[in-house]
Amino acid sequence: MRLEIIKQIIHINSIEFACDAPDLFQLRLQDPATSIMEGLLDFNKHLLFVIVVIVLLVAWLLFATISNYDEFNTPNSQKFFHSNELEIVWTSLPALTLLSLASPSFNLLYSMDEVSTPEISVKVIGHQWFWSYEISDFDRVISCNGSDKTLKYTCYLLTGEEFYKKNNAGFFRLLETNKRLVLPSNTHLRLLVTSVDVLHSWTIPSFGVKIDACPGRLNQVNMFLKRVGIFFGQCSEICGVNHGFMPIVALVVSSNQFNFYVISKTF
Ligand code: CUA
Repeated sequence: MRLEIIKQIIHINSIEFACDAPDLFQLRLQDPATSIMEGLLDFNKHLLFVIVVIVLLVAWLLFATISNYDEFNTPNSQKFFHSNELEIVWTSLPALTLLSLASPSFNLLYSMDEVSTPEISVKVIGHQWFWSYEISDFDRVISCNGSDKTLKYTCYLLTGEEFYKKNNAGFFRLLETNKRLVLPSNTHLRLLVTSVDVLHSWTIPSFGVKIDACPGRLNQVNMFLKRVGIFFGQCSEICGVNHGFMPIVALVVSSNQFNFYVISKTF
């Protein structure tokens, strides 16, 4: 059902269906739409492998010790109580493990801060309890001399009544908004995130983006969306009673479609 709706909205039938919203009893992370998220997923898998190895090793040590050296198996205590070699090994092994994890981790971390020349800046403003968006500088997208028009809109949670009135079957309760943030794919984007009241956090798991919206501060993050689709996220900073009711929905369309959208809205 959801797939059908997405297909209807994006007018694409040959699109590979990906997990861009929470699933029932979901265990894995959502599918990536940016190279950052791909990196995060790879690193997560790598870490998981290392963790499993460590857990097995420690569990084996623990059980071996317990079963070999209880008072029934070894009534006489061992003379051996100190070993320099062993201490060197069990200090350096964890240190080396951490070092081997540091390199990919820092690589990822700094690649998130990488600032490329963006084609569009999207202003994301957090409110208690909704998000608003402003997209300006269209001169770069469509050559139009001196356009000072700004695309502004506000996205509220789609409430239950609106939901059932319109019979939006297949839509997500508490995750849908009345309007969606429209973004172009295959375009370098810059998000400028701020807030007008308290701390919020703009998050979309598939984008690998989680950026705080601080009042009086402008946070910046770069994005390059690799595919079209509808992506869901939520505010991720406790911001008041309706913190759970300010979801984020991004509709990512091809850059051509985005240009038409902007033209139809602003000119
Ligand atoms: Cu806004 Cu939590």
